[in-house]
Amino acid sequence: MADLSTTFTGIRFQNPFLLSSAPPTESESNILRALEAGWGGVVTKTIGLHPVVNVAGPKTKFLRADADSPHLSMKKRPGAALHSSWNWELISDKTLDWWVPRLGRIKKAYPSHILVASIMAGSGNDTELRHWQTLATACQNEGCDALELNLSCPHMDRQDMGSNLGKDKELVSIVTKAVKEVSKIPVWAKLTPSTTDIVIEARGAFLGGADAISSSNTFTSLPLFDAETLEFEVHVDGFVSTGGLGGPAILPLSLAKMSQLTQAFPDKSFSGIGGISMFAHALNYFLLGCGTVQICTAAMLDHAVGPNVIRELNEGLRLFLEKHADKGWTRVDDFVGLRRDRVVAQSRIRRPDEKAYHGGRETAEGYAAPEEVV
Ligand SMILES: Cc1cc2nc3c(=O)[nH]c(=O)nc-3n(C[C@H](O)[C@H](O)[C@H](O)COP(=O)(O)O)c2cc1C
Repeated sequence: MADLSTTFTGIRFQNPFLLSSAPPTESESNILRALEAGWGGVVTKTIGLHPVVNVAGPKTKFLRADADSPHLSMKKRPGAALHSSWNWELISDKTLDWWVPRLGRIKKAYPSHILVASIMAGSGNDTELRHWQTLATACQNEGCDALELNLSCPHMDRQDMGSNLGKDKELVSIVTKAVKEVSKIPVWAKLTPSTTDIVIEARGAFLGGADAISSSNTFTSLPLFDAETLEFEVHVDGFVSTGGLGGPAILPLSLAKMSQLTQAFPDKSFSGIGGISMFAHALNYFLLGCGTVQICTAAMLDHAVGPNVIRELNEGLRLFLEKHADKGWTRVDDFVGLRRDRVVAQSRIRRPDEKAYHGGRETAEGYAAPEEVV
């Protein structure tokens, strides 16, 4: 019998699918609806102690591609397919005091679903490290099952926070260690993909005692200019800052980061994030070595918390396990990491033998037709 449950960082999940830290988990009512809909767990919208005021305008927009032309635009139109989400939303604008009673109520209402608190503070001095500890203690006292450290928000002006902090392996290590000092529950470190070698920051997190790495947060990016108005498709008074790209466009990018991570640390735990809309997408992360996966953009576009997305994910996993029952697979663990070693250096990829080699003159999509050889 297919068993959708899994144990990740010592926590039992009814299924390995979580809503990531983002608008779907920004309120008590959203989280309750999400757990009711069947998500195995949620990671709350990031909670911090510093005041948060978002921009005067839309915080998230969705870039769409036409089927019959290369046109890309955030304008909603019939027949266009989702390319990506773009956001410059900051962490939760609700205070820790607002969150605390709600976390307790959510956990009481859904004791067997997993509630992960995403937290963020600064770095570089003892006061900020104490802020991390205050946040961690408050959330775990309310019954949260794990903590996720936001070391990855890509649009923070503060140099000591978010992806600015997450790019510094020593600060990553120090912050993780400070949280571990007070936490009785597992600590996941959510890293930024905007670095040269994510393995370096991951090593910092593991040295600090992280129980898992979550990857990826959104990729640093800009919205496109509107060719008519010469204004960005998202702006306030004509101005924009860099924001984060999520959704289908980042699936292959985030997989490349994940493959680096799971190969460097084959015995560690990973939660895969980025571009997942359906089980076939999640499967990529499992095969590379992730024990759980998280979803944001697809859920936002499905009644704000993804009831249809989670139904398909659970059903997809169940059908997949049934299909492979002859291999003795009954649970996710049976195929996690199965294809981790299939990513190798280019020089290790087989070349055609001499007879089969046509000097690169094969007809291939994206290449000119082979020229006549005289
Ligand atoms: C509008 C929006 C807000 C987000 N806010 C947070 C946040 O507060 N904390 C965090 O760790 N990640 C945040 N994220 C990142 C998502 O959790 C996720 O890592 C990213 O969107 C990639 O997943 P996806 O491709 O499924 O969207 C946010 C993403 C979006 C689109």
